[in-house]
Amino acid sequence: MNKEPIILGIESSCDDTSAAILKGNKILSNEVANQDIHQLYGGVVPELASRAHQQNIIPVVDAAIKKANISKSDIDAIAFTKGPGLLGSLLVGSSFAKSFALGMNIHLITVNHMQGHILSHFIDEGKEIPKFPFLCLTVSGGHTQIVRVESPKKMEVIGTTIDDAAGEAFDKSAKILRLPYPGGPLIDKHARNGNIHAFEFGKPKVKELDFSFSGLKTSILYKIQNMMQKNPKFIDENLEDLCASIQHSIVSILLKKLEKAIKQTGITELAIAGGVSANSYLRSELQKLADKKNYNLYIPKFEYCTDNAAMIAIAGYFKYINNDFADQSETPSARLHF
Ligand code: KG4
Ligand code: ZN
Repeated sequence: MNKEPIILGIESSCDDTSAAILKGNKILSNEVANQDIHQLYGGVVPELASRAHQQNIIPVVDAAIKKANISKSDIDAIAFTKGPGLLGSLLVGSSFAKSFALGMNIHLITVNHMQGHILSHFIDEGKEIPKFPFLCLTVSGGHTQIVRVESPKKMEVIGTTIDDAAGEAFDKSAKILRLPYPGGPLIDKHARNGNIHAFEFGKPKVKELDFSFSGLKTSILYKIQNMMQKNPKFIDENLEDLCASIQHSIVSILLKKLEKAIKQTGITELAIAGGVSANSYLRSELQKLADKKNYNLYIPKFEYCTDNAAMIAIAGYFKYINNDFADQSETPSARLHF
């Protein structure tokens, strides 16, 4: 029997530099360096992200190798995020991966970041994994998709956002509420004791399985500007209710389209992935829906929701066992599709 491959995964598509070591489909290590610098600017500054990746990449890879208790020469392949993402950030990971593959004379594997989020469900943690075909609601800072997943190789986007992503809706709403970046987790936190029906915001009308969040953002902005003119302490006095109502609006938009996709496809095997899948209200509302309708729902561990290299390594593993390798001519792609 062939030995299980040891794969080094590299993720650098946005503002997290991450390296992970996988043996077969089991994680030996998963190191992530976050970039706090962007908090000063209320959003990710691409040039600063790229520079921070350059500083972080070697120490993060070093830490992942040490934590996995292996040596560099044990690694059989290196998998990296080819896109989508910020070009300057992707360039750091891809240049590192290509040099590492060349220097160590090992296989190079390219991974689509969004497919990585989806395939994170297949990291062996002793829990049940989704059965094919399944629907994955992939919700991150840059994307909002409903994906029909037929196999690790065959995935089709059947619904997507026509403007902002769900994570952007969280982050931009948080900015209006004067919360620091990234605001998603803070809205989640403040929403816990708030009333979801305290405020009503505009609901999008988008056809088929597509999403829209820009109207909601404008509706939140106008309502808050209006109320602040009457009472300058409006945000402070209503923060919990505002967060709960905004979160409820975003999650309702997501669930409505997911339910429509379930009806259209007849698929009741469901998964969520991406940074926004860490949202506690989305997780509990989806679980309620699944329990009520008898759907099978797969929710990733928190550490595999936001950007991480473990998901890139597992996607790399599926390519490795299919002998699907890349070469030194690979370049990153900011708008990579499936
Ligand atoms: O997948 P991810 O780490 O990076 C991208 O590929 O974009 O997703 C980041 C997004 C951010 O918009 C962040 O605010 C959001 O995920 N996020 C959350 C939560 N945790 C992260 N949004 C709502 N609730 C959370 N708990
Ligand atoms: Zn992501």
